[in-house]
Amino acid sequence: MNSLTRLVFALLIAAAAPAFAQQPAISPEEQAILDEEARLEAEEATVEASANANDPTAPNPAPAFPELRPVLDEFGGEAGLTALMETFMAGLLADPRTQPFFANADQVRVKRQLTEQFCVILGGDCTYTGRDMRSSHAGQNIDRSHFNALVEVLQVAMDKHDVPFRAQNKLLAKLAPMHREVVTE
Ligand code: HEM
Repeated sequence: MNSLTRLVFALLIAAAAPAFAQQPAISPEEQAILDEEARLEAEEATVEASANANDPTAPNPAPAFPELRPVLDEFGGEAGLTALMETFMAGLLADPRTQPFFANADQVRVKRQLTEQFCVILGGDCTYTGRDMRSSHAGQNIDRSHFNALVEVLQVAMDKHDVPFRAQNKLLAKLAPMHREVVTE
């Protein structure tokens, strides 16, 4: 990749993913590569996605990345994800930026669906039984600041569960492209 292409990627990524731009201890080049990998893989996953009942054009809400199976171990496997979701949901309900969205949601269901979704993404032997991202978030008026707030709350939860920083970034890189289906404002 020549330096001009690299610069273009860096600019595109800075514009598209400000929530991740504040991550310490990872160089902009590394972040750009991670984000670009995620973009390409998400595109592939989109192509391979099985048709959704409501919207056959919706991207796969839980694309599997078997190469991330070691990362799942760093999260403590499926049990670790289940525990993480307790902290994540508590954080979402404690943060005034995200609380209004989750206060009246079926929190038990959301935690279960997120566990399944993250488990599949991280190459686990799990099945995602939830809805696609577009219809799950339609009509909620989620904007970029809400999306960034949720990512921050997730980062705090992962820190509390001692998930290594690189493992956190591997997951976040896969979630980042989903803003296209989640953010509607
Ligand atoms: C990458 C980012 C996100 C991912 C991966 C994600 C994932 C999910 C999943 C798997 C569900 C459950 C779907 C189902 O019930 O079948 C869900 C539901 C929900 N999400 Fe998200 N979400 C994201 C961002 C957000 C943001 C930014 C907000 C608002 C701040 C939000 C608010 C909600 C709410 C309120 C529900 C429950 C909807 C309902 O019960 O009808 N999500 N999300």
